[in-house]
Amino acid sequence: MIKGLFPTEEFTSQRTPFYYYDVRLLRTTLEEMCRLVAAYPSWQVHYALKANFNAEILRIIAGYGLGAECVSGGEIRAALAAGFAPASIIFSGVGKRDDEIILALQEGIGRFNVESTAELQVINDIALSLGKKAAINIRVNPDIGSHISANISASLAETKFGIHHSMLESAVLLASELPGIKLCGLHFHIGSQILDMNVFTSLSNRVNQCLALMEQMGVELVDVNMGGGLGVEYEHPNHVHRADFASYFQVFGKHLNTKLPVHFELGRSIVAPCGALISRVLYIKEGLYRRFVVLDASMTDLIRPALYHAYHRIENISSDEPEEQYDVVGPVCESSDVFDKGAVLNRCHRGDFVAIRSAGAYGESMASHFSCRPLPGYYLSNTQQ
Ligand code: LLP
Repeated sequence: MIKGLFPTEEFTSQRTPFYYYDVRLLRTTLEEMCRLVAAYPSWQVHYALKANFNAEILRIIAGYGLGAECVSGGEIRAALAAGFAPASIIFSGVGKRDDEIILALQEGIGRFNVESTAELQVINDIALSLGKKAAINIRVNPDIGSHISANISASLAETKFGIHHSMLESAVLLASELPGIKLCGLHFHIGSQILDMNVFTSLSNRVNQCLALMEQMGVELVDVNMGGGLGVEYEHPNHVHRADFASYFQVFGKHLNTKLPVHFELGRSIVAPCGALISRVLYIKEGLYRRFVVLDASMTDLIRPALYHAYHRIENISSDEPEEQYDVVGPVCESSDVFDKGAVLNRCHRGDFVAIRSAGAYGESMASHFSCRPLPGYYLSNTQQ
């Protein structure tokens, strides 16, 4: 247990489980990221709302002047309510509904990331029917990284995402002919939780090729968008507090060969470290082979371990007693409702608070009502800190 990291005395009156957000860490993360990106005057970061759309978290992020990246009409509304400027909103997604496209055009969002020629036609028709022109970037599937790792699978040819780079030319020709479309740029997003900066070098090389093609075709672009994907350190949240924004921006600064403004859509790297799922120990269960800590949090509150076998560090924040090994599980009737096997925690007792760390991204935002369980609550650290 690291003393003083969590105000456990304030937790006793809270219904568990809930998400605890360390606002000071969120702010220092945002400050550092904004300072680093400011070295490149025409670059802009948009926050990917899917990582965490808690209204209070959104308001804090919007206060730092970031743009927003949204994947549904609901996210567009949440971004507007939180104070993100409409022109800074990018609307992505492989399956935008007509009503969402209409909402986006009526609200005057800045850009659509378009993922197919079929979608291009529909946006064109809707824009014309509203007497508008839709500003779009074509999302290119750069088909890189098959040799690197499964977590960047959004960039392989067989995934549903983007228009394969070999089909870019025909998509651009179509976009240039459609009267309701203004082609503004190219968009790339190759996947998430990427810690190997060489992946972003490969991406930059593919982007350079695509931009060269645009130049050959005589297409003038407004900007280029690298998507998100910067990973965070899940193993050691007490030692590495922030994502490596410096290396991330540097790699693009070095390898991208363009004078166009560059946009980014970062989610996880901004919010993951500041959040922890706080839960109470219900039971210590002695099994035949294993000892279990049964929590009152489950996969309905944080689905990442069950869905992706993702690792989150777990700490008993109520106890200093000697460490023991446990399988940390939730109460839901699914054998995948396991947070970690063989986790080493200070000895646990019924009623102890347990923190599941680095859960600020894709935690609260992916919670569900499965088994009629209530959604988790949340608690923001004292913002005056
Ligand atoms: N832009 C687009 C088009 C995206 O699809 C995503 C994430 C992002 C930006 C933000 O990526 P980030 O900076 O957060 O890596 N639920 C999974 C992650 C799914 C990411 C989906 N797209 C998880 O819990 O690991």
